[in-house]
Amino acid sequence: MKTPSGNTSGAGSQGNHTTVLHIDSSARGSDSITRTLGRYLVDQLAQPVVHRDLAAQPLPRISAEDLIGVHGSSADSRDSLAKQLALSDALIDELRAASTLVLGAPMYNFGIPAVLKQWIDAVCRAGVSFRYTERGPQGLLGVERAFLIVSSGGTAIGGEADFASRYLLHICRFLGIDSVHVIDASGSKRAPGEVIARGEQQIDKVLAAPGQVQVA
Ligand SMILES: Cc1cc2nc3c(=O)[nH]c(=O)nc-3n(C[C@H](O)[C@H](O)[C@H](O)COP(=O)(O)O)c2cc1C
Repeated sequence: MKTPSGNTSGAGSQGNHTTVLHIDSSARGSDSITRTLGRYLVDQLAQPVVHRDLAAQPLPRISAEDLIGVHGSSADSRDSLAKQLALSDALIDELRAASTLVLGAPMYNFGIPAVLKQWIDAVCRAGVSFRYTERGPQGLLGVERAFLIVSSGGTAIGGEADFASRYLLHICRFLGIDSVHVIDASGSKRAPGEVIARGEQQIDKVLAAPGQVQVA
């Protein structure tokens, strides 16, 4: 089931909500803190994993017209749009099949990597992954919990310049994921080993008390 270098191994067709969807987005390889902590977390979860590496295998470029078409689930039949819609559907199916989402998100210029933003643009679709109701947006996916592993060189996670974890928290809630744990992996510029050790402690703590919701 686990596909370390890239894309889905077909868990979407199982529909049993027991898989972990693990998304990586760091431009770094083996030195990456989010990759290291993500691997640690999915090993602890010991569930079937679908791994998507958005840095190693970025989503294909989308044109301005197709971005608008995907956002509105356009019925236009042009080829490029059909391909982008099929990709969006497949990415949403990956989420639907997962009970747990693990997002590795390095902070880039106080926000998230562009490759991760492109994935978010592909999976947030009105009428498909969420719907608007009189009481606001309602998620349609059924993902039970998310772990946001957010690293930074020095910017404090949860501080006023952290637009990464706050944004990802908002997206998770928007998609109906109520239990969201932020793993603070800040400070990699000074002491990466300590950041990893601190991240592993946070993961252990959350897994020991699974009902707890941690908000940065
Ligand atoms: C393009 C780029 C932008 C970055 N912007 C910030 C930033 O705004 N604040 C910060 O503290 N660190 C910043 N960093 C440092 C990374 O967040 C840090 O190296 C982090 O550990 C990267 O995650 P990774 O170890 O999983 O690759 C930036 C790094 C890169 C490559």
